[in-house]
Amino acid sequence: MTRAWSSKQCAAWAWLAVLAALGRTTAYTDTEEFLSDLDKPVPTSDVQGVLGKKASLPCDIQPLHSEDEVVMVLWFKESDGDQPLYSYDIRGRSQSQPKLWSSPTVFANRAFFRGTATPAVLMLDNVMATDAGVYRCRVDFKNSPTRNLKVNFTVIMPPNRPTIFDAKRRDRTKLVEPYNEGANVLLICEVEGGNPRPRVTWYLENTVIDDSFEQRPDGVTVNTLTFPNVGRQHLNARLVCQASNTNLAPPETKVLILDINLKPISVTILTKEKQISADKRYEVECKTTGSRPEAYVTWWKNNRQLKRMAKNFSENNETLSVLSLVPGVEDDGKYLACRAENKHIPDSAIEDKWRLNVHYVPIVDLKMGSNLNPDEIKEGDDVYFECTVKANPKTHRLVWFHDNSEIYHNEAAGVILSAQSLVLQSVTRAAAGDYTCMAANSEGKGTSNPVTLLVRYAPVCAERRDGELFGALKHETVSLHCSVDANPALVSFHWTFNNSGEQTEIPPRLYSSHGHTSTLNYTPTTDMEYGTLACFGENTVGQQKVPCLFQLVAAGRPFPLQNCTVANQSIDSLYVECVENFDGGLPQTFLMELLELPSLAVRYNVSTNRTPPYFEIKGLPPGVSYRIELYAVNAKGRSDVSTIETVTLKGQAKFTGELV
Ligand SMILES: *[C@@H]1O[C@H](CO)[C@@H](O)[C@H](O)[C@H]1NC(C)=O
Ligand SMILES: *[C@@H]1O[C@H](CO)[C@@H](O)[C@H](O)[C@H]1NC(C)=O
Ligand SMILES: *[C@@H]1O[C@H](CO)[C@@H](O)[C@H](O)[C@H]1NC(C)=O
Ligand SMILES: *[C@@H]1O[C@H](CO)[C@@H](O)[C@H](O)[C@H]1NC(C)=O
Ligand SMILES: *[C@@H]1O[C@H](CO)[C@@H](O)[C@H](O)[C@H]1NC(C)=O
Ligand SMILES: *[C@@H]1O[C@H](CO)[C@@H](O)[C@H](O)[C@H]1NC(C)=O
Ligand SMILES: *[C@@H]1O[C@H](CO)[C@@H](O)[C@H](O)[C@H]1NC(C)=O
Repeated sequence: MTRAWSSKQCAAWAWLAVLAALGRTTAYTDTEEFLSDLDKPVPTSDVQGVLGKKASLPCDIQPLHSEDEVVMVLWFKESDGDQPLYSYDIRGRSQSQPKLWSSPTVFANRAFFRGTATPAVLMLDNVMATDAGVYRCRVDFKNSPTRNLKVNFTVIMPPNRPTIFDAKRRDRTKLVEPYNEGANVLLICEVEGGNPRPRVTWYLENTVIDDSFEQRPDGVTVNTLTFPNVGRQHLNARLVCQASNTNLAPPETKVLILDINLKPISVTILTKEKQISADKRYEVECKTTGSRPEAYVTWWKNNRQLKRMAKNFSENNETLSVLSLVPGVEDDGKYLACRAENKHIPDSAIEDKWRLNVHYVPIVDLKMGSNLNPDEIKEGDDVYFECTVKANPKTHRLVWFHDNSEIYHNEAAGVILSAQSLVLQSVTRAAAGDYTCMAANSEGKGTSNPVTLLVRYAPVCAERRDGELFGALKHETVSLHCSVDANPALVSFHWTFNNSGEQTEIPPRLYSSHGHTSTLNYTPTTDMEYGTLACFGENTVGQQKVPCLFQLVAAGRPFPLQNCTVANQSIDSLYVECVENFDGGLPQTFLMELLELPSLAVRYNVSTNRTPPYFEIKGLPPGVSYRIELYAVNAKGRSDVSTIETVTLKGQAKFTGELV
């Protein structure tokens, strides 16, 4: 600390010193003794003066008796022998107008004796080193004997101003370099000169913190301050080195104001939301306080620094950093840390962490059972799928789809749904297709990749028209097309012929096969070559169990028409429909005859080759009844008859017997 010392205060100090001196030396006031024996040692008072300042040498000139009075005061310096150096003469004068004289070679005009003061003093200006010494003042009274008093005057040489160095001997009062918080401060205060040697003291503000100093032989007095662990409370504190060797003058001081780099005290992520959604943007705020200079704020995600995503705002001793965060699914469960540090102080970083709870739409992955070979699944095998769901928040139920239609648990049908899997027991061809699973949570629905189930199976007949009849003339060639379903569709065929219990292989040259179809060109030449032709397909899964069958019969008369009905009738028309039957192996046409009742005479006939056959006849006379007979006809002749009994046209029989 510095004190402004005015000259007025200096004077006061000097005066106090005089009083102190008077208090200390009591001997010279013992005037009784002094009077009784002149040869007794002269009482001595010790007085100090500071180089260049004022000093006062006391001399008690008070007469012992009130009627007595001083006539003369003379000052001598012991070293100068009997030559007075100052005189105060009031012989024949009033005390207020003394005759004063000062030796020009000693004090000259620097001295002035104040006889009216109590005690009287010889005032000395601008004290010089040579002024030191023992002075004697001789007081002559009118009646009383002369009084002698001694003053041992010492001159104090003030020390120079202290200089403060740091450990590297840099002048610390000129160097503006802050200390780090926690650092140990080593400061050396050196003071040259001073007589007596000064006390060199360290103050922190107004408190002495180190008063141990060393007097080096070279005249320098040193106080080395070790000040451990400077802290926040010392910011801008004043460290003062003070050198003093007297109370008569203000001490010499040097002040160092502590500048301290401070560690951040707190760091807080202000916006720690309980949950956040993936792929949305969040502004995460982090506040730090206490760092000086401003904290360096960085963001970390699981110990990896996030760069260039933050904005900083600083105010006073606070720094706010705002991170723009778009969390990804992979960030769920990671820790986001906001770290604040003072770059000047090693290991000053502190951080606050936030465990990210990232919500996201379920991520669903579907796989076929790992011990299944998807290319080798065939009918009758058991198949299972495993659905893995990654979700936050958790999902509870899975929904399964087969070609976009939902699958339900059905143990009887061998469809078993459990927590994470779908089991299909003994699959059939119908189970083939794309499978997906779906999971939902508050963030949305997640559907898996589709997994295609291929079910292999041995050939089966594509169209089941078992034992379809084919008629053929001898030497006529019929083409029989055998078409199968199979997976894989690469099928090889063979044909057999069976006639009354005997089965023979058809020579391969008679048939050709493409993919899942085989065509047999068959030409019966004898009666023995009519019978059942069977076609068998075979693929990598196996041979067709039930063959596709073709009945080959010799061409003959067609089979009778079936299900003939009068679909419609009016006063003079009829409309008849039938279903055709086997044509006997030859092209057929259809014939309808109307036989008038009761004569059974054929009145009308209509033929057609349309299939299915229908017959229309118009302009019939009203009121007549008929039996209708229907036939299929081919080159071998007419089929058996199909009959519709008794159809009567409405209305009156006006022209009976009049025929078309
Ligand atoms: C005067 O004072 C100084 C210091 O106080 C002391 O060393 C010296 O002996 C004294 N001289 C006399 C003559 O008393
Ligand atoms: C920050 O500064 C404010 C005023 O500037 C002060 O009140 C507060 O105590 C300081 N905080 C810290 C931690 O230094
Ligand atoms: C914010 O501060 C950090 C370090 O404190 C720095 O890396 C980053 O570039 C700053 N960002 C902006 C926008 O100033
Ligand atoms: C041959 O045909 C007859 C009658 O059509 C049938 O009973 C028999 O089982 C067939 N034999 C073979 C080996 O297919
Ligand atoms: C003929 O009719 C009957 C009975 O309505 C029916 O069951 C049968 O399938 C029909 N036949 C043909 C070949 O349509
Ligand atoms: C019935 O006969 C009328 C008149 O000839 C005809 O318009 C209609 O289509 C016939 N209905 C059927 C089902 O054939
Ligand atoms: C239809 O009737 C006419 C005359 O009665 C006859 O000449 C003809 O042969 C008949 N047609 C058939 C196919 O019976």
